[in-house]
Amino acid sequence: MSDQDTNSMWGGRFAAGPDAIMEAINASIGFDKRLAKQDIAGSRAHAAMLAATGVITDNDAAAIREGLLTVLSEIEAGDFTFSTALEDIHMNVEARLKALIGEPAGRLHTARSRNDQVATDFKLWVRDQIDAAIQGLEALMRALLAQAEAGADWVMPGFTHLQTAQPVTWGHHMMAYVEMFARDRSRLIDARARMNECPLGAAALAGTSFPIDREMTAAALGFDRPAANSLDAVSDRDFALEFLAAATICAMHLSRFAEELVIWSSAQFRFVTLSDRFSTGSSIMPQKKNPDAAELIRAKIGRILGANVALLTVMKGLPLAYSKDMQEDKEQVFDAADNLMLALAAMTGMVRDMTANRAALETAAASGFSTATDLADWLVRALGLPFREAHHVTGALVKMAEDRGCDLSDLSLLDMQSVQAQITEDVFGVLGVANSVASRMSYGGTAPVQVRAQIARWKEKLP
Ligand code: ARG
Repeated sequence: MSDQDTNSMWGGRFAAGPDAIMEAINASIGFDKRLAKQDIAGSRAHAAMLAATGVITDNDAAAIREGLLTVLSEIEAGDFTFSTALEDIHMNVEARLKALIGEPAGRLHTARSRNDQVATDFKLWVRDQIDAAIQGLEALMRALLAQAEAGADWVMPGFTHLQTAQPVTWGHHMMAYVEMFARDRSRLIDARARMNECPLGAAALAGTSFPIDREMTAAALGFDRPAANSLDAVSDRDFALEFLAAATICAMHLSRFAEELVIWSSAQFRFVTLSDRFSTGSSIMPQKKNPDAAELIRAKIGRILGANVALLTVMKGLPLAYSKDMQEDKEQVFDAADNLMLALAAMTGMVRDMTANRAALETAAASGFSTATDLADWLVRALGLPFREAHHVTGALVKMAEDRGCDLSDLSLLDMQSVQAQITEDVFGVLGVANSVASRMSYGGTAPVQVRAQIARWKEKLP
């Protein structure tokens, strides 16, 4: 019997190799090859530690560490043949190392297991994605800030129920998304801090009898400390779940904004013009310019939430410690991360390139009786009416304007006085949308002064 028949890594007690179907369901190399860089970093740290603690010789460690760099450069150059028979990235790398350096390669797996190895690799990978997503969010926030700054006092309709509610400013609307994406960023920062404990050295599940130094490997890999319980260290996938949860919420925010861009770029709204670079044409209707990027961003939540649900479902009910079920963690997270990054980049490009149509925003802001609340507030302030009565009077005036097909500001003073006799000429001062927004000076409100304060705060806080 040769190594070809049974697995050279664990074939000692096996008389026959796996069925082809067994190999197909068991192998993860098709996707976990993406962990190569992290796997090699983990192994190099482990080898250095084994030498420092006297478990292996310095010479063996040097050969292993050098050989692993060669393996990495082969993989990065695309010169590496991945083997399904070798199941996963861990065994593929180790087998190649053995081919390169011979006997010392067999000493690398002392005091560790694929269980702590995969947990470490995957955590390193997720940590990198978190860092990339944080950067992506910061780029998007900067693009939104630039939009907000350009139109801090441009008036547009604010909506509730997608019905015209009160005028707001373009800058205010952009800054609302800055707040959302800032929370997404802070969720990722929190998750990163919580996950930053190193599983390596937990071995299969119980720790090891070798005198390893877990602080050393943790520090070498940029972790804050070793994970405190070896059973937990090999079974924990919370870090991936937290990333997916944060990614899902971020994708939800992206989806809401994308939906607004789809609506705003329509011929009926014309609030924004998306650049040609982020639009597509129709093969049959020559007039069309479609917001495909926005639509796809709107859709990405589907697969990202799907990944979140899938991994939670995989983990639910698993007894401690490692079970092979956990190999199903990776593809979901890979897909979610890829698509989150793509959605963030596409949204950033779209926001950078888009033009807000100031005139269309202002025209829309003035329609739909958007200053009715300002009128009611004026009746309270100037005439001392109780708000409920002011609401009623305003309602009657809106009805009058609606019947005549005109705006509130088109009604004459006499018209107004026919509903409430004490109304004076001053009322017209609050019916303009610019006055309306300027008056909303409460903290966080839509007044340009407040919006500029928000912008200034974020410009200072953003790295
Ligand atoms: N490919 C495996 C995974 O992704 C690595 C760990 C295998 N561990 C084991 N005891 N079979 O989960």
